[in-house]
Amino acid sequence: MAEFDVIVIGAGPGGYVCAIRCAQLGLKTAVVEGRETLGGTCLNVGCIPSKALLHASHSLHDAEHNFARMGLVGAAPKVDWAQMLSYKDEVIGQNTKGIEFLFKKNKITWLKGWGSIPAAGQVKVGDEVHTARHIVIATGSEPSSLPGVDVDEKVIVTSTGALALPKIPKSMVVIGAGVIGLELGSVYARLGTKVTVVEFLDVVTPGMDGEVQKTFQRLLKRQGLDFIMGAAVQKAEAGKGKATVTYKLRKDDSEAVLEADCVLVATGRKPFTDGLGLAALGVEMEPRGQIRTDPHWQTSVPGIHAIGDAIAGPMLAHKAEDEGMALAEVLAGKHGHVNYDVIPGVIYTAPEVASVGKTEEALKAEGRAYKVGKFSFMGNGRAKAVFQGDGFVKILADKETDRVLGAHIIGPAAGELIHELCVGMEFGASAQDIALTCHAHPTFSEAVREAALACGDGPIHS
Ligand code: FAD
Ligand code: NAI
Repeated sequence: MAEFDVIVIGAGPGGYVCAIRCAQLGLKTAVVEGRETLGGTCLNVGCIPSKALLHASHSLHDAEHNFARMGLVGAAPKVDWAQMLSYKDEVIGQNTKGIEFLFKKNKITWLKGWGSIPAAGQVKVGDEVHTARHIVIATGSEPSSLPGVDVDEKVIVTSTGALALPKIPKSMVVIGAGVIGLELGSVYARLGTKVTVVEFLDVVTPGMDGEVQKTFQRLLKRQGLDFIMGAAVQKAEAGKGKATVTYKLRKDDSEAVLEADCVLVATGRKPFTDGLGLAALGVEMEPRGQIRTDPHWQTSVPGIHAIGDAIAGPMLAHKAEDEGMALAEVLAGKHGHVNYDVIPGVIYTAPEVASVGKTEEALKAEGRAYKVGKFSFMGNGRAKAVFQGDGFVKILADKETDRVLGAHIIGPAAGELIHELCVGMEFGASAQDIALTCHAHPTFSEAVREAALACGDGPIHS
């Protein structure tokens, strides 16, 4: 008989959530984790630490730019970088210990060390081989490498190094205008670093709604970030405390060199499956290195499942969590389901950016008849009161049925506002359903209602 019902490899948001739900559903569960602390990339070197630094640096920005206008006068705060980093570490510690507590509470065994799968039904950790009816691979992802760029995590860093720099650099080149580049670029720009973002494409945050991309880049420029667009980085080299970045402009092949104290490489992440022994097991992979799974997260080898960043789909903590929960239901003989059409994405800059469902570009490409309801935060009293009138809510609805197909928000609390639209989409809401729902005044949420009204007879406040 197997020692465990389920062994999960990896304690990130996918793995730990899957394990907790398995245990709650009565399955004897263990988790293998090689890191010193639980919580994976997200809690240790991803979502949580980056949001702590975004919060701290945004608070400084607020104090510098808005306090005096509100009659809050006095010496502007100075940055104690060591303290800011220890605040971030404290937040990480609270969160990772929280997962340890939840493991104990749910009687989940933590098998400490790096796991491999010698055969279906077996997981090896150190010298010990454990057996399980079901194995779940939730080993996450790691930063992609870029040819010609050697990361030393001191001068040329990935997000992991950028979350723990020994001092605030005077200048930073960010390679890649994706989510990591713009979140961490914002952090340092607010702390006084001269940030230059070098992006291969002509737009920031590829895949996002085009209007949002343009507004987002404009607002970031206003905050002091410089952008070199349409530029392919050729190499980055670290010298004595400085680095150079060579890029080629795609439009004319001209080459130029930038110098900076620090280079952040943020050109995407790739699944991390090293050392698991998947090739020997015959586990099929996708061409881009993800583990291939069926709709129930089973790999090509029966009894071995995979979720989160290690499989296809957006590399987001909540996507991994949802898969973890749904897979646990499946393993317990129930019905687990993830609606991949309604997975929000949020960028935690100021203003925040959030989206769910189809973009206007995607609808056009599909040839679908749609209507657009848009409302600017300039028409929202609460936003103006707190100096956050930049941005808009944009709702895309089916032209015939009025059903909401997508929503894109750039503005205050966008990452919270988007969920009203997610719930609406899950319930098949029309734009009118949202427009006819009473929204409290004065809230940012009223902008969502106004955008929904704009899909019909028009908004009130514009
Ligand atoms: P991971 O969180 O990567 O966890 C995998 C775990 O498996 C790791 O702890 C690893 O040590 C362990 N592991 C790997 N192999 C083995 C092995 N063989 N044996 C034992 N253990 C193993 N997403 C969001 O949704 N919102 C955000 O705000 C956000 N911010 C981010 C900021 C940064 C800087 C980064 C880098 C990422 C961010 N992400 C964010 C993405 C998010 O972190 C990932 O999508 C999420 O962590 C994926 O969860 P996972 O469980 O699949 O894997
Ligand atoms: P990304 O895929 O978001 O962006 C990478 C960017 O680098 C793209 O714009 C790409 O065009 C550009 N690029 C690639 N090669 C280049 C080159 N040679 N020269 C110049 N530019 C180049 O990847 P990123 O930002 O590294 O994030 C990785 C993952 O982490 C994302 O999938 C994201 O989902 C997740 N994440 C999520 C966050 C959130 O939800 N708030 C925060 C941070 C990360």
